[in-house]
Amino acid sequence: MFKHSLFEKNSIFLVIGILVVVAIGGLVEIAPLYWLKSTIEEVKGVRPYSPLELAGRNIYIREGCYTCHSQQIRALRDEVERYGHYSLAAESMYDHPSQWGSKRTGPDLARVGGKYSNEWHVAHMIDPRAVVPESIMPPYAFLLDRLLDPNEKAAHLEAKQVVGVPYTEEMVAEAAADMRAQADPNGDHAGLLERYPKAVVGNLDGDPERLTEMDALVAYLQILGQMVDFTEVEPEQLVQ
Ligand code: HEC
Repeated sequence: MFKHSLFEKNSIFLVIGILVVVAIGGLVEIAPLYWLKSTIEEVKGVRPYSPLELAGRNIYIREGCYTCHSQQIRALRDEVERYGHYSLAAESMYDHPSQWGSKRTGPDLARVGGKYSNEWHVAHMIDPRAVVPESIMPPYAFLLDRLLDPNEKAAHLEAKQVVGVPYTEEMVAEAAADMRAQADPNGDHAGLLERYPKAVVGNLDGDPERLTEMDALVAYLQILGQMVDFTEVEPEQLVQ
C-alpha cells in the first residue's frame, strides 16, 4: 500500500509507470503481427493484383478514394445484408497498404466488383451525378486523359515482391504485356487469365485504343471482392 503512494504522490513516477504498462500491452498486441504468416489463414482464390489492377489501386490511393470509402465489411448483420459476406483477413493479405479505411461518406467498396458494368463505372467517374443524381462524390473525368506507361510496371511488381507479395518471375517478365492485354478487347488474354484468374478484360474505359488511368481504376474496382467465391462454399471450407 505504501509503495502505491509513491505513484500517487509523484506525477513523474506515475507517468513512467503508465508508459511501462502501456509498452507491455502494446508489445503483446503488436509482436504477433510480425509472424503474420501464421495469423492469416489462406483462402482459395485470393491472388496478387494483375499489373493493371495494381496500377488502378495506386490511382485509388493517390486520389484519396479511401477518405470517403472503406473496404472492410464488418461481421454485423446490417453490413452483411447490405454489402455481402464480411471481409476475410486473407482478402487483403496482398494489400500494401491495406485500404480498410474507417470513413464512409460513400458506401463500402470491398465487394463492388461485378456490381456494375464497366460503362457504369466510367460514366460515374466522369460525372457521378449523371448516374446517381443525389451523389456528392467528386468527378474524376481527367483519368480518361492520363495515359499509362506499361513499361514501368515490372519494377512495381518487383517492389511488391520485396514486401512479400508472391509475384513470380514470369509475372514480372510479362507485366507490361499483361497490362496492355487486360484493357485490349483483341488482346491475348489466355496467359493473363491463367496468371490472374477472374481479371476483368476487354474494353474498360470505352476507348480500346488508349491505355488510360481510367482503364486501370475500372480494372481495380471490378476485381474488388471477386476473388473468393462465397456462393459455392462456406468460409470454413474455403481454407486450403
Ligand atoms: C467526397 C467523398 C468521396 C470521394 C473522395 C470518392 N467518393 Fe466514391 N462515392 C461517394 C458517395 C457519396 C457515393 C454514393 C453516391 C454515388 O454512387 O455516387 C460514392 C459511390 C461510389 C461508387 C459506387 C458504390 C456503390 O456500391 O454504388 C464507387 C464505385 C465509387 N464511389 C468509387 C470511388 C473512387 C474510385 C474514388 C476515387 C477516385 C471515389 N469514389 C472517391 C463519395 C466519394
